[in-house]
Amino acid sequence: MSSSNEPSTPDTEAGYSMSVTRPWLGVEPTPTFRQPAPRPAEAREAGATTAPATGSQPLVESISLLDDSTPLALEVAEDTRRRIALAGRRFPRPKQTRVLTVSNQKGGVGKTTTTVNMAAALAQAGLRVLVLDIDPQGNASTALGIDHHAEVDSIYDVLVDSMPLKNVVQKCPDVDNLWCAPATIDLAGAEIELVSLVARESRLQKAVTKYLEEQEAGDGRLDYILIDCPPSLGLLTVNAFVAAQEVLIPIQCEYYALEGLSQLLRNVDLIKGHLNPRLHVSTILLTMYDGRTRLSSQVADEVRAHFTTEVLKTTVPRSVRISEAPSHGQTVMTYDPASSGALSYLEAARELAEQVLDESEREQSNAATDRS
Ligand SMILES: Nc1ncnc2c1ncn2[C@@H]1O[C@H](COP(=O)(O)OP(=O)(O)O)[C@@H](O)[C@H]1O
Ligand SMILES: [Mg+2]
Repeated sequence: MSSSNEPSTPDTEAGYSMSVTRPWLGVEPTPTFRQPAPRPAEAREAGATTAPATGSQPLVESISLLDDSTPLALEVAEDTRRRIALAGRRFPRPKQTRVLTVSNQKGGVGKTTTTVNMAAALAQAGLRVLVLDIDPQGNASTALGIDHHAEVDSIYDVLVDSMPLKNVVQKCPDVDNLWCAPATIDLAGAEIELVSLVARESRLQKAVTKYLEEQEAGDGRLDYILIDCPPSLGLLTVNAFVAAQEVLIPIQCEYYALEGLSQLLRNVDLIKGHLNPRLHVSTILLTMYDGRTRLSSQVADEVRAHFTTEVLKTTVPRSVRISEAPSHGQTVMTYDPASSGALSYLEAARELAEQVLDESEREQSNAATDRS
């Protein structure tokens, strides 16, 4: 009797060879399975329980024992490893308050998302952080759970009526060490109202300098101020450029990402030449990275080729959890701290904080990470 009707027998005991190709994927499937892939919940449990069972073996290394035969299992293992490496870390304090403006005149590239999540990550790592929301849309205020209806004192009052910054700063309800000066809808008119005011480009800088002096004399020095800019290069953004020392540019890993960047850089140079000699682009963060598309990696490569030292190693993936968090009045750092999006922002914040370290301090920090 012919054996052609019998089911084909596996080639090996541990798994079976796959003879079926999937041309629509454009790739050959993995030829053999070493063992069945765990379901996500099982893999998570394994991540939590397998590691300590290996005794003296370092915790992070032991996670690689997890099954890595599927992308999902590999991702779970990788996330667990990253979480352990970062858990409870405290970031170094800068010698002086670092004031960064998060700018890109393109809308929807992740300025607000980067501002609030980096700020929350820095604060969770023990640093004292203030967010200045100078976008009339007030998205940063919303994401930080800060009241910003029309009657609330806001950055508008600071810029147009010279109200002290300390009168408008509110404490973030979900994260310790994090404060925010909110934007209200009034700010939409500020761009025009500022035109006729004295020293219209440096009003934010004046308010920030005074606030920093008061803080240093009172509650304690702030470590970071992050300014969330509107998507334009108008007077509000100019005020942010004059108040800051550093520019953080989020770049979305999409086509057209680099368009408009040269104009932004020209503006930074102009402000540097005329109004604020300390200003420089210190940091670039690649956001909404989609590892499945070639476009994302092409954009990332191009940006890294242009800005060799400024681009952070960490890229922020496109993540549903990141985009859901603001609708709950939260950052992803509190909404889902274990998600890959939160981990990426935590890693990016760590890189940002460690820019202030010199070579020997950085080596010590890396050694601490390797040991953890
Ligand atoms: N990494 C990400 N993954 C998924 N959605 C994101 C990500 N970063 C930002 N978004 C979403 O993209 C939109 C634009 O982001 P936003 O930070 O508001 O940009 P900008 O402030 O530059 O206009 C928002 O809806 C935000 O939730
Ligand atoms: Mg925004």
